[in-house]
Amino acid sequence: MGIKAHPARFPGKLPEFFIRFLTEPGDLVVDIFAGSNTTGFVAEQENRYWIAFEKELQYLAASSFRFMQEEMEDEQLKNWHQEITIGHPVEVLSDSKQLRFFEGAVSYKPLV
Ligand SMILES: C[S@@+](CC[C@H](N)C(=O)[O-])C[C@H]1O[C@@H](n2cnc3c(N)ncnc32)[C@H](O)[C@@H]1O
Repeated sequence: MGIKAHPARFPGKLPEFFIRFLTEPGDLVVDIFAGSNTTGFVAEQENRYWIAFEKELQYLAASSFRFMQEEMEDEQLKNWHQEITIGHPVEVLSDSKQLRFFEGAVSYKPLV
């Protein structure tokens, strides 16, 4: 599909060490320079929620492949990638742990 890997992707063992050392299952892990989102991927494996920020849409698009269902068709993957690359939102997977987290956040009411 012509998608390039992130040039500075780091090994999963690095965020794994810090996530296990500093957080508990169910905590939220934030990476403000996500790149290929190794941190988010490992956080999800470790049963943590995650939020990632990445300014380059091509890296954001490529990182989304880490979280797609295996049974997605090539054509669907390509469309998803193109949509993200031009800055369009894509629908979050209905069975995603992340979606459940955000549903919880939307129902949150501040105490003021
Ligand atoms: C060293 S890379 C992170 C690599 C990542 N750890 C991985 O495993 O793929 C840093 C990333 O931060 C992004 N970045 C730099 N400044 C940013 C900003 N102000 N907001 C969001 N992302 C930014 C860059 O585009 C780059 O992809």
